[in-house]
Amino acid sequence: MADKILVTGGAGYIGSHAVLALLEAGFEVVVLDNLCNSSAESLVRVAGICGRAPVFIEGDIHDARLLDGLFAAHEITAVLHFAGLKAVGESVRKPLEYYENNVVGSVRLCQAMSRAGVFRLVFSSSATVYGEPAEMPLSEDSPTGSPTNPYGRSKLMVEEVLRDLAASDPRWSIAVLRYFNPVGAHHSGQIGEDPRGIPNNLLPYIGQVAIGKLKELAVFGGDYPTQDGTGVRDYIHVVDLADGHLKALQAIACQAGWRAWNLGAGQGYSVLDMIQAFEQASGCVIPYRIIARRPGDIPACWADPARAERELGWKAQRGLADMMADTWRWQSMNPQGYAR
Ligand code: NAD
Ligand code: WQD
Repeated sequence: MADKILVTGGAGYIGSHAVLALLEAGFEVVVLDNLCNSSAESLVRVAGICGRAPVFIEGDIHDARLLDGLFAAHEITAVLHFAGLKAVGESVRKPLEYYENNVVGSVRLCQAMSRAGVFRLVFSSSATVYGEPAEMPLSEDSPTGSPTNPYGRSKLMVEEVLRDLAASDPRWSIAVLRYFNPVGAHHSGQIGEDPRGIPNNLLPYIGQVAIGKLKELAVFGGDYPTQDGTGVRDYIHVVDLADGHLKALQAIACQAGWRAWNLGAGQGYSVLDMIQAFEQASGCVIPYRIIARRPGDIPACWADPARAERELGWKAQRGLADMMADTWRWQSMNPQGYAR
C-alpha cells in the first residue's frame, strides 16, 4: 500500500505544488488547511491536473481533537508541515499572531504526531533564519540567530524546538528545509501563487503590473552594493521546491535526527534582472520606479545548495526563463487567481 502523507497548509502556494508532486509520485495525501490564506479550489485544480485527489480536511493545526481523529482515521507515515503565516510586514504589526500560529501551532502538531506515533516531519523553514548574512553564499553552517523580523524569528524558534525534540527521542526524523525565494507556477497554468490583497513579494507584484491590475512596480532601493544597485535574491522554481520535499521524505525514511538543507538555485538575480526576464517571457512592459529601500531588507542573499545535492540528490532544474514563463502563464490564465 502507498505511504500516506499529511500535508498541513496543502491548499497554499507551495503546499499545493507539493501535494501534486506527491500524488504524481503515487503517495496517498491528506491535506489539513484552515484556508486562512488559500482556497480549496487549488486542490480541485491539482486533481484536474493529475487525475487523483487528496483527502481534504478543513481545520487548524492547533486543534488537538481534530488531529487525533485525523491520525486515528488515516495511517500517516510522515508529515509535510507548510501551515503558517508568512507576511513579514504583518508579523511586525502582529507578532503574537505569528508566534501563536507558527510556533505554538507547530508544537501542537508535534504533540499530536507524538501521540499518534508518527515521527517523520519535513518543516518549511526559510533563508530568513540567516538574518543579515556575513558571508555568501549561505551554507547550512552559516550562522543563524539574527532574523530581522518576528516572522523570521518564528521560523528559527520552530527549527530550535524541532532540534530539541529530535535530540530528546531517537524516533524523530526531521528535515528542516530552508527555502530561498520561491517563484513560478506549475507549467499547466492551473495552480500558482494567489496572494490576498496587494502582493508583498516581487514576482506576484510584477505579474499584477503586467495584467494592468497595478500601475507600476516600486523597486525598493537602487543604492545597494550589488551589480546594479538593486537587491539580489536566489529565486527558486516552486516545482523544483516541491520535488525537494519528495527527496527529503526519502532521506528521513532512512535516517533519524534533525538535519537542515538549503533549497535554492545557488544563483543571485537583481530586481532589474527579474524585470527584464519577465518582460522577455511575457512581451509586456513593466513600468517601474526606484524608491527608498524597504526597512528590514538585506542587500543580497543566495544559497550554497551543495548539501542538498550531495545528501538528497536534489538540484534546481528550472532556470529564470522557466520561472518567468510559468509565472506569466498562471497570471494571464487566472487574472483573479482562484476566484476566476
Ligand atoms: P501560503 O500562505 O500560500 O500557504 C500556507 C497555508 O497554510 C495556507 O493555505 C494557509 O491557509 C494555511 N494555514 C496557515 N495557518 C494555518 C493553521 N493554523 N492551520 C491550518 N492551516 C493553516 O504560503 P506558502 O508560500 O505556500 O508557504 C508555505 C510555507 O513555506 C510557510 O510555512 C511559509 O512560512 C514557508 N516559506 C514560504 C516562503 C515564500 O516565500 N512563499 C519562503 C520560505 C518559507
Ligand atoms: C525580493 C526583492 C525586494 C517587492 C521574503 C521574505 C522571506 C521569504 C521570501 C518567507 C527584494 C524587492 C520586492 C516590491 C521590490 N518568505 N522588491 N519591490 O524580501 O527577499 O523575502 O519572501 O519565508 O522570508 O522576507 O522577497 O519578493 O519581497 O523581495 O523591489 O514590490 O525584490 O526589495 O530585493 P524577500 P520579496
